[in-house]
Amino acid sequence: MDQNELKRLVGEKSVEWIKDGMVVGLGTGSTVYYMVEALGRRIKEEGLKITGVTTSNVTADQARKLSIPLASVDEVDHIDLVIDGADEISSDFQGIKGGGAALLFEKIVAINSAKVLWIVDESKMKKHLGAFPLPVEVIPYGSQKIFDRFEAKGLNPTFRKQANGSLLLTDSDNYIIDLHLNEIKDPHALADYLIKEVGVVEHGLFLDMVNTVIVGKQEGPVILHA
Ligand code: A5P
Repeated sequence: MDQNELKRLVGEKSVEWIKDGMVVGLGTGSTVYYMVEALGRRIKEEGLKITGVTTSNVTADQARKLSIPLASVDEVDHIDLVIDGADEISSDFQGIKGGGAALLFEKIVAINSAKVLWIVDESKMKKHLGAFPLPVEVIPYGSQKIFDRFEAKGLNPTFRKQANGSLLLTDSDNYIIDLHLNEIKDPHALADYLIKEVGVVEHGLFLDMVNTVIVGKQEGPVILHA
């Protein structure tokens, strides 16, 4: 199986966690795409009744096309489960997310959810975090100053750009600065530093958040409990 087939495998497996009546957070990304498609099929074929809380405009558009009922995070009194992808997961179940620039809504939905389930192909499982550039969402005003401070601290920042060369805007009209760190030795200390920088809206370190990971391997999906 290639990487895409592994993503499909875990995406389709993960909808087994969704039960009738649940409020379900719907993450973002190419793995979540398969989960949302499979959820749409269950709703159509089984008459499953759920409410979805999306984490990006892209996922909301996909869910609407599949007639998945949606509500915003502020309209529901609880979320039972969020199913999302990840860019890296360390051996102690810490994560980097935001490769798809949706980290802000993903983190809001995750911290308001009773359970967090991540679905990844096996390439995302790492000993340490940091080979994947760490996304930091910043407000545009003063963002060059934040960038300069990151650079002075040796955090190797780059502004994320679109294919046409212009700066990428998130769903909340912010910029993303990616930090090229190679290895993050102390994720909690880095998270504390980043969130205190004025102008930083959120960062892609998802620490002590996940309950269950479904890993797509050649021999089939493997379920890990954090
Ligand atoms: C979106 O911002 C991300 O957090 C995604 O969940 C993450 O990038 C995983 O994406 P893929 O499933 O496309 O690899």
